[in-house]
Parts: sequence; C-alpha cells; structure tokens
Amino acid sequence: MLREHLTFFREFRQRFETTGAIAPSSRFLARAITRYLRQRPTDKPIRVLEIGPGTGAVTNTIVRHLREGDRFDLVELNESFADLLRQRFATEPAWQSAAAFSEVHVQPLQEFQSDAPYDFVISGLPLNNFPVDLVRDIFEHYFRHLSADGVLSYFEYQFVRTLRTRMGSASERVRMQAIESIMSDHCRDHRIRRDWVFVNLPPAWAQHLRRSQK
Ligand SMILES: C[S@@+](CC[C@H](N)C(=O)[O-])C[C@H]1O[C@@H](n2cnc3c(N)ncnc32)[C@H](O)[C@@H]1O
Repeated sequence: MLREHLTFFREFRQRFETTGAIAPSSRFLARAITRYLRQRPTDKPIRVLEIGPGTGAVTNTIVRHLREGDRFDLVELNESFADLLRQRFATEPAWQSAAAFSEVHVQPLQEFQSDAPYDFVISGLPLNNFPVDLVRDIFEHYFRHLSADGVLSYFEYQFVRTLRTRMGSASERVRMQAIESIMSDHCRDHRIRRDWVFVNLPPAWAQHLRRSQK
C-alpha cells in the first residue's frame, strides 16, 4: 500500500494533468464505482474494461468479482503505473486468479481498439483536467466500448467544476462550463445512479450510466 501511495504521489507531481489526484481512490470509492459489476450475473461470463487504473485501487476490487471465462482489459497511459499493475497481477493472490484473462494495455484510451463491446466500463480518468474536445472524445470512446445493456461507471471529485469556475481564470471558467455541459447532458440522458463518497481524498461522486437509459 505504501508503494502504491508513493508511486501515485510521484506521478501526481510529475504528470499532474493525466494523474489528476494526489492519492489513489479509497476502498469506499472503489466499492461505489464497482457497484454494478459487483451485482454481475453469475450464469454467464462478462467483459470488463477499466480505464485509467493507476496503481490499481479500483482494480483490486474488480479482480475479486471476476471468474474464469470473463475478459478484463485495463487501459493505462502511464508506463510506471502499468509496470506496477503487471507486478500485482504476478504476485497478489486475488489478482493472480484473474491474470490469465486480464491484459494491461499501455496506451491512451483514444487509441485502444477491442474486438467486442464490454458489459462494464469503469473509468478513473481525471476529465476535469482535460481540454474540452478531449472530454467529448473520451465520452464517445466510453459509449463505443459499451454493450447495449452495459453500464459505464466513472468518478469525479465533488464540486470541482463549481470551485474552478468560481476561482479560476476566465479561460478556465469557459473550459469548466463546457465540460459541465458535456457531462450533464450525458447524465441527463443516461444516468441510472449517482453515489456520494465522502471518505476519499477529495470526496467524490461515482456516476453510473447505461446506454439504453435514454
Ligand atoms: C485519477 S487517476 C485514477 C487512478 C485509479 N483509477 C484510482 O482510482 O486510484 C487517473 C489515471 O488515468 C490515467 N490516464 C489519464 N489519461 C488517460 C488516457 N487518456 N488513457 C488512459 N489512461 C489515462 C492516468 O495515468 C492515471 O493512472
């Protein structure tokens, strides 16, 4: 756990824009964001895509709910995080049981291709740090990878856009308002649930969207 926190903090300092947080998600946030995955059907295999797994704070919950026959793909931009994830798949018992059907892809989501859609797409991307066009693009990729009945779960830090809109520069205000508009449109059309998670640094929301909600 110490190794995870140290790696995360180092990457936070070196790559703030893509790392987006000072510490890995808490286990409370990991539970919230995996809410629908944890209720998975037991009579058929599932496909899971995790985007931006970092040091594996959420992955650590995901692997405990996978079984033989499932497929688990992880897409992580940062090579140091990907190395740590591969080590965890090699050494930690709960991860080892999922290793045979899991793969860490070191690339940005925007370049990731898959041969079939996923039942669960779980994302930890720090969208509020990204340019507006990238946020729009990333949502397109989320939905492109989601099966017709699939669930997209992602988290965001509470009230970050409100704070940055009030305290940021004029250009930051415009960026935050545009991101707010993209995200609230998706939530209006597709959201099935939002969980409030207070025990996390900083407190977060887990948003759950279904393609077929519209
Ligand atoms: C806020 S951290 C979340 C880490 C982890 N899921 C957690 O909850 O502790 C964001 C992660 O997204 C990764 N990331 C950022 N942009 C990405 C992209 N375009 N494609 C894939 N991963 C990306 C970062 O390298 C980082 O690991």
